[in-house]
Amino acid sequence: MEEKKIIFSGIQPSGYFTLGNYLGAIKNWTKLQHEHNCIFCIVDMHAITVRQEPKNLRQRTYDSFVQLIACGLEPEKALLFIQSHVPAHAELAWLLNCYTYMGELNRMTQFKDKSSRHSENINAGLYTYPALMAADILLYQTDLVPVGEDQKQHIELTRDIAIRFNNLYSPTFVVPEGYFPKAGARVMSLQEPDKKMSKSDENENAYITLLEEPSRIMNKVKRAVTDSENQVRYDIKNKPGISNLIDIYASITGKSIEDIEREFSSAGYGQFKNAVGEAIVETLSPIQERFKELSKEKGYINNLIREGAEKAERMSYKTLNKVMRKIGLYQVK
Ligand code: TYM
Repeated sequence: MEEKKIIFSGIQPSGYFTLGNYLGAIKNWTKLQHEHNCIFCIVDMHAITVRQEPKNLRQRTYDSFVQLIACGLEPEKALLFIQSHVPAHAELAWLLNCYTYMGELNRMTQFKDKSSRHSENINAGLYTYPALMAADILLYQTDLVPVGEDQKQHIELTRDIAIRFNNLYSPTFVVPEGYFPKAGARVMSLQEPDKKMSKSDENENAYITLLEEPSRIMNKVKRAVTDSENQVRYDIKNKPGISNLIDIYASITGKSIEDIEREFSSAGYGQFKNAVGEAIVETLSPIQERFKELSKEKGYINNLIREGAEKAERMSYKTLNKVMRKIGLYQVK
């Protein structure tokens, strides 16, 4: 039998989750929880690197937790918690900041992208965001990090920091690896298919959220930007819009790209879009129903949030203490 691995991943509560979040990350999380030791975190401290309305942040954090359970994460199997409830994340982030070079942070495309979109608020947290992400991952001696493709660069940096620290002192951190889905690792905007689908997009037609009504989903897929060839064929370079829809359909149905091209070889875009829209609605409907039911169970959810924090706190201090000792911070035995 394959050895149980430690899996860690995080998601920001900065809006309702999108189809990109689901297909790129959460769907893999629900599979991995049955075979491995999984830890999933709502990363609220990452979210405040851009301004958040306090009331909204509070509500979205709760809703994010509920959404993860509605998506199929089982609190008896996977450890779920909120980042700010476990102080070791911020503590280790500070320590790792001292082992991360500005040259490395300067290269991060997410920083470049976010600082150009929020030019009025390029704060130090936005810049050192990857050190906090490295702390999240390394605290739990993580083997695998299931994420979408946009997080590849951050995981590379996490590996570099871990290797650097291990070499400077002695083996302290497991060096983690990224884990990406075959299809759905990079779901693109429905309006500008050369950009990734993002919950912070100004154009609502660019993304689908997990809680979106079926009629809106069907409409957004129908309006998705394609090309004039009217041939369902995968070609990212010349047909990014239709390729994105094929990728979404492949991820949801588990069918291969070749099978999808064959199945729709004599269909036009209208018919294909209909099938894609219906597949999305079919996947999201049960999630939406569970979300509605679970949101009402505030006592139950808050208990889970409390228990998750306690468990994560116990686990995280082991690594944090080890790191402090190796660095030479004075500890009373
Ligand atoms: P975030 O909150 O932007 O996204 C959460 C997860 O969803 C994936 N994702 C996508 N996948 C495919 N297509 C898309 N269009 C798409 N948009 C988002 C992301 O790759 C991610 O897996 N920095 C992270 C959060 C984080 C984290 C961590 C992740 C903080 N600490 C530790 C892993 C481990 C982020 O901003 O994700």
